[in-house]
Amino acid sequence: MIKGLICLEIKEKNKLDFEEIANYLHDAIFVSAGDGEVLFVNSAYTRMTGIAAEEVVGRNISDLEGSLFTNSVTLKVIKNKKAMNSIGKSLKTGNEMLVSGIPIFNEDGTIKYVVVNDRQIEELEGIKEELESAREKLAVAKKDTYKKKLEIDHLKKALASKNTMIGVSSHIESIKNEIEHIADTDVNILIIGETGVGKEVIANEVYTKSSRRDKPYIKINCAAIPDNLMESELFGHEKGSFTGAEKKKIGLLELADGGTVLLDEIGELPLNLQSKLLRVIQQKEIMRIGKNDPIKVDIRIIAATNRDLKARAEEGKFRLDLYYRLNVLPINVKPLRDRKEDIPELGDFFIDRFNKKYGKSKHFNEDAKRLLLVYDWPGNVRELENIIERLVVITMNDEIGEGDIRKVLLIGDDEKNFGSCNIKDEVEKLEIEILKRAMREHGSTRDMARVLGINQSNVVRKMRKYNLK
Ligand SMILES: Nc1ncnc2c1ncn2[C@@H]1O[C@H](COP(=O)(O)OP(=O)(O)OP(=O)(O)O)[C@@H](O)[C@H]1O
Ligand SMILES: [Mg+2]
Repeated sequence: MIKGLICLEIKEKNKLDFEEIANYLHDAIFVSAGDGEVLFVNSAYTRMTGIAAEEVVGRNISDLEGSLFTNSVTLKVIKNKKAMNSIGKSLKTGNEMLVSGIPIFNEDGTIKYVVVNDRQIEELEGIKEELESAREKLAVAKKDTYKKKLEIDHLKKALASKNTMIGVSSHIESIKNEIEHIADTDVNILIIGETGVGKEVIANEVYTKSSRRDKPYIKINCAAIPDNLMESELFGHEKGSFTGAEKKKIGLLELADGGTVLLDEIGELPLNLQSKLLRVIQQKEIMRIGKNDPIKVDIRIIAATNRDLKARAEEGKFRLDLYYRLNVLPINVKPLRDRKEDIPELGDFFIDRFNKKYGKSKHFNEDAKRLLLVYDWPGNVRELENIIERLVVITMNDEIGEGDIRKVLLIGDDEKNFGSCNIKDEVEKLEIEILKRAMREHGSTRDMARVLGINQSNVVRKMRKYNLK
């Protein structure tokens, strides 16, 4: 009968069994002829509406409207001769459905079939809920991304403010100038200077001013990683390449690809790794432990040291070829005692920072400022920074005086008259006091050098100069 009509037509054309296929569809299908005679319904239609094929097929839609369902879209399509939607309702189950009907035309423009598909509103509600929950998740993810962005901005700002390179001396000015010139090139840089002079501040400044500022910046302290772990930390390893290598590990140099690496205390890098580092610089490639294929890496190296690398090279502890490779652009940072013009500005900067941090409003009086200027600062800017932090925290009054500084610098107060004295004499007196105290507390010149933050030969030289034993 007519029910098989479309099925036959399609079968002839495509050799597909339309009826069988339609019965597998999840959506309800309802097909009528152009005059409204129902030709076919699939099993999903019966499931959804409770209306069996026998009840509708062969009958006219206008007779069914109002008795089996309401709001027939088929009638609307026939009337308007175009695709229509409506919300239909089965009077058998009370289910509401979203009904979409489309006309299929004969060549003469009359309607041949009306094909309708029904979707349960509840199901659509489910989809809507899913959509809403996906939207909520998206909103949360967006908020998260926004929060992360704020955090990154905050960290960047923190790095930038920590980074602020303070200094008005011609020495610092010329370093700033040099950074402006070289930051954007990919040239490797070697920063040399005593402990606490600001080598890392300079490295950070180079990084933030370079075109690699949005790429990784990895700081590696060569003195802090035990020798036996160093190679795998730097170059990575393959799974099972040595006992304990349970998983593959990507090394720091590979992680930094595209970015910048600060190799701090480069003088402490073991000799065997020095040659591997040379390969990174020359060939721009690394080898993971346990893998023989080199991996290309593009990194800018900033090395820092407080050692005399040339002297280490002469002792056979540093590869001379690596030294020359790194030393293409050396930046020698002077100790603070040789650029005392920077002390007032650094003092203001640190007191501001720690006043903010601890909610205080401290300031130095004139005598205190003078003492800061005559002191030798063996620990350089770091020592100045630490001492100002302690002063802001421990002093009672808003005004910080000379006596307060003497206490934290552990200098006796028998020499009070700073104003009338010559700075050089004052420096010497302070040095003697500090050396004496260090001698009392630490037996060897080696230990003294460690606490004073200067090297041993410097301690010995100063003790000889002041005739101290
Ligand atoms: N020019 C400067 N402006 C502002 N802060 C500085 C300056 N120089 C150094 N500092 C501060 O002094 C401290 C020591 O600086 P940094 O860590 O850069 O020294 P370093 O030379 O790397 O020392 P080390 O050899 O011990 O690693 C840091 O807290 C840094 O912020
Ligand atoms: Mg450092």
